[in-house]
This record gives sequence, C-alpha cells and structure tokens, in this order.
Amino acid sequence: MTSELSPIDKAKFVAAKQATEYVKSGMKVGLGTGSTAAWLVQCLGEMVRDEGLKIKGVPTSSRTGQLARDVGIEVITLDEARWLDVTIDGADEYDGELNLIKGGGGAHLQEKVVATASDRMIVIADASKKVDTLGAFPLPIEVIPFGMRTTQALIEETLISQDVLGRSVTQRMVGGDPFVTDEGNFILDLHLKRIGNARQLSLILNQIPGVVENGLFLDICDVVIVGHGDGKVTVRDSAENDGAEIHFNVLDDTNIFADMND
Ligand code: A5P
Repeated sequence: MTSELSPIDKAKFVAAKQATEYVKSGMKVGLGTGSTAAWLVQCLGEMVRDEGLKIKGVPTSSRTGQLARDVGIEVITLDEARWLDVTIDGADEYDGELNLIKGGGGAHLQEKVVATASDRMIVIADASKKVDTLGAFPLPIEVIPFGMRTTQALIEETLISQDVLGRSVTQRMVGGDPFVTDEGNFILDLHLKRIGNARQLSLILNQIPGVVENGLFLDICDVVIVGHGDGKVTVRDSAENDGAEIHFNVLDDTNIFADMND
C-alpha cells in the first residue's frame, strides 16, 4: 500500500499522522484546509471510528467541514466552541521563526480566525514549504468585492514603499471566473518574491479599507511538523528543546499506510 502513495503524499501523510499525537479525547480541534490538512482529517476520522477518540472539530472551510462530517468527526462552529485546544493546518511557506504564508487554497481568513482562537497552532507540511525568507509563494489577500479594483490600486501603491522584490498583483480566478471565498469575497495574489519586513507589510495591508485579511501568519504557529517522502518526520516545537528539531520515523509503524487504505 505504501508504494501506492507518491513521495509527496507520503510526506503529507506522515506529517498529519504525527500531528495526531497532539490530539486527545475531550479536545476541541481546529481543522485546517488543503491537501495536507485533508490527511489529518482522515487520520482523526479513523481514530474516532476505531479508537473511540472523542473530539469536536471546528473546520476552517466548507470543504473541510464536509470532509470532517464524512469521516465521522463531530463538527461545531467556532462560536459554539469559543476557544480551541489546538488547530492543525497546512501552510504554503514557513520560515525559521515559524512565521507562515497561508491561503493558497483561499481559506486563510477562517484559518487565521480559528488558529488565533487556539491554545496552540500546529502546522503540517512537506519539506518544500521551508524558506529562508517568506515571499516566493504569492501572498493571498482577501478583499471585499465592492470597489475591488480601487482596493487593488491602493495595495499596489502601498507596495511601492515596502521592502519586497516583486510588486505585481493578480486576481485569483477559477476557470475564467473570480475565485470566491467561503465569506463571499475575492482573493488578490501579491507576487512579492521576497518579503523583507513581514510584520510591517501585514500591518499596512490590513489598514487598507476593502482588505479583509492577508495570508501572513506571524507569531501564531507554535509547532511545525515536516513530513518526508521516506516516512520520516521532523518536529520543531517552539516550547520544547529551545525549538530544536526532533526526528521521528513514522514508518516504524509498518501498518500505517495499509490502515489508511482499507
Ligand atoms: C488553504 O487556504 C491554505 O492555507 C492551505 O493550508 C495551504 O495552501 C497548504 O495547502 P496544502 O496542504 O494543499 O499544500
């Protein structure tokens, strides 16, 4: 069964599997969005079904909510939960200080609200997401549809004074139509190539009327679990071992992939 997964899917899967170690019965858990988070939701669903794990999940998108229900996880809203024990989510980039770019799937608004309302945020990723400096991945900005071109012009003007390498801004499209978020908004992708001062950029972007939220997650993530194609994982936990990396071999549990494919 292991051989049926590509190395990248194996990497995402082992990161997700390792992250389940942080989830205990009774917890309220934020469920991220994206292909890596989907593995997590499946792993948790299996634990609910087979091991009697009792959790309440708060999804960060309608598609994650659907998947969570499909695999048997009890889904509640953030307003019902109020506060979460942990949120586990993917990322598009993370740097050495565990700052992130998120929103490649267009869900960063709900993801940021949910992660901020959690005791801990854990990111699960494959090794390709690690960068020295954020910005190679286009930075997503959720904007309201009203006056969107004016908002875009204000963003472009703002970027002139920012420490970034690229300044082009594109609207995210799907098959010729604007991509619409779960909140009914649009996404502008900022092709910055390198973000010199993420903190300043995040503050300035969020001050522009029409901008709802940007995809920079600064000082929100506590743990990054990186999966590798050979089944190994690397854990960087800011609260333990002074943030040093710890290595595990998830494939020591030889039935792990067989279980998932049953
Ligand atoms: C969703 O909007 C994003 O923030 C995802 O968490 C991010 O794009 C990572 O997705 P993958 O796990 O599919 O790479």
